[in-house]
Amino acid sequence: MTVNYKLLTRQLEALVEDEADLLANSANLVGLLFAEIPDINWLGIYVLRGSELVLGPFQGKPACVRIPLGQGVCGTAAQRMESQLVADVNNFSGHISCDPASVSEVVVPLISAGQVIGVLDVDSPLQGRFSADDQHGLELLCERFVQLLENKRADLQNFI
Ligand code: SME
Repeated sequence: MTVNYKLLTRQLEALVEDEADLLANSANLVGLLFAEIPDINWLGIYVLRGSELVLGPFQGKPACVRIPLGQGVCGTAAQRMESQLVADVNNFSGHISCDPASVSEVVVPLISAGQVIGVLDVDSPLQGRFSADDQHGLELLCERFVQLLENKRADLQNFI
């Protein structure tokens, strides 16, 4: 099913624009996306703390709390500063399984001032759930989200 990421981005702007608290804004990003993207079982933010990603706001089952940079799909996206689109996690060497129901995954790095500050991770129980359009839509949405946060605080390292 096609998701209207432009509409989601406008809804995100409306939710975030007038609120300075970055934790509240991150929680609402996660709530909005989890409610509006069909066929997913987990969606959340990991924030970069030193050389580890640490679990932030999410929707879904409890998940791994710490992921070293370079490990798993999330750690790979953060280290390479590149989104990872995984059609079947069983074919991704080093994938970290938090919920055995998750089969496909897209992870988008959150980048501010040329540095990774975290990642957005979206998991689905369906094989090949995410298309290049989903990846692109989420990348633009995450870029806008980071811009909105930058308007509230210049240095976004450990933003939550
Ligand atoms: N599968 C991820 C770990 C995070 S959970 O899916 C919530 C990974 O390999 O990085």
